[in-house]
This record gives sequence, C-alpha cells and structure tokens, in this order.
Amino acid sequence: MKIAIASDHGGFELKNKIYKYLSDNNYTVEDFGTYNDESCDYPIYAKKVAKLVQEGNFERGILICGTGLGMQITANRFKKVRAVCVSDCYSAKMSRLHNNSNILTLGQRVIGFGLALDIVQTWLDTKFEGERHQKRIDMIDV
Ligand code: RB5
Repeated sequence: MKIAIASDHGGFELKNKIYKYLSDNNYTVEDFGTYNDESCDYPIYAKKVAKLVQEGNFERGILICGTGLGMQITANRFKKVRAVCVSDCYSAKMSRLHNNSNILTLGQRVIGFGLALDIVQTWLDTKFEGERHQKRIDMIDV
C-alpha cells in the first residue's frame, strides 16, 4: 500500500512522527511537505495529496494540520476522495469499514502523539466491508 503524507506548519511535528513510524514499520510512505515549521497554507498540501489519491497514484493519504479540519474540507472537494477527520480509534475503524475512507486527517493541536499513532494503525489495518456500504458510497458523487 502506497501512502502519501503531508502537513502544514500546524501539523509538521506530528507528520514527522507518523512518517517515521510508518517507515520504521516498513510501509511505503512519501512525504509531500511541508518541510519546516514556517507558516504556510494548508490547502496547498491537502490538494497535492488529494489529487494523488484521486488519480490512483497513492491508495491512501494522511494529512495533518492544527485541527485536521482545513485538510478535511479541502481534500473532500476532490471526487473519489473520502477524507475523515478523526480523533478516536472507533471512528477511524468505522470510517474504513463503512465509508472506505482513503484520506485520514488529524489535528496536531487536538490529540496526543500516542493516540495519533494508534489511530493511524487502526485506520491502516481495517478493511472496507463493501456490499451495502459500496452502494451508499456510489450515491455520494453526483
Ligand atoms: C494554522 O494556524 C491552522 O489554521 C491550520 O493548521 C488548520 O488547523 C486549519 O484547519
């Protein structure tokens, strides 16, 4: 599974921690910035990753900003992207089982690093259930 990851300055530290965690655990992960903690604009990074996921170059994306919200709002403008801003493991799991989420957004100012890594692992481990849920996903894009 290829994973694209990016953040703005508000998510920079958590992005680096997740990138290291995924690399250490043998995931294929590519970092699309930002590469320092200077103030920058989250839509630039959300658009990069959302486009890569939309076009099928990466199966999953992870986007981090201060709250996870700006990243989620921006990524969901892209058809075929189902971005979820999650702060607990149950929602991470359900967003995969029922919604086949393909982008996870996190808020560095909202959750701790330990919980963030548990959410990421849960989200990566959980498979989409398909069937009736696929029918509903097909109804999202008009
Ligand atoms: C940056 O201060 C902050 O607005 C951004 O990281 C994010 O939380 C936006 O949704």
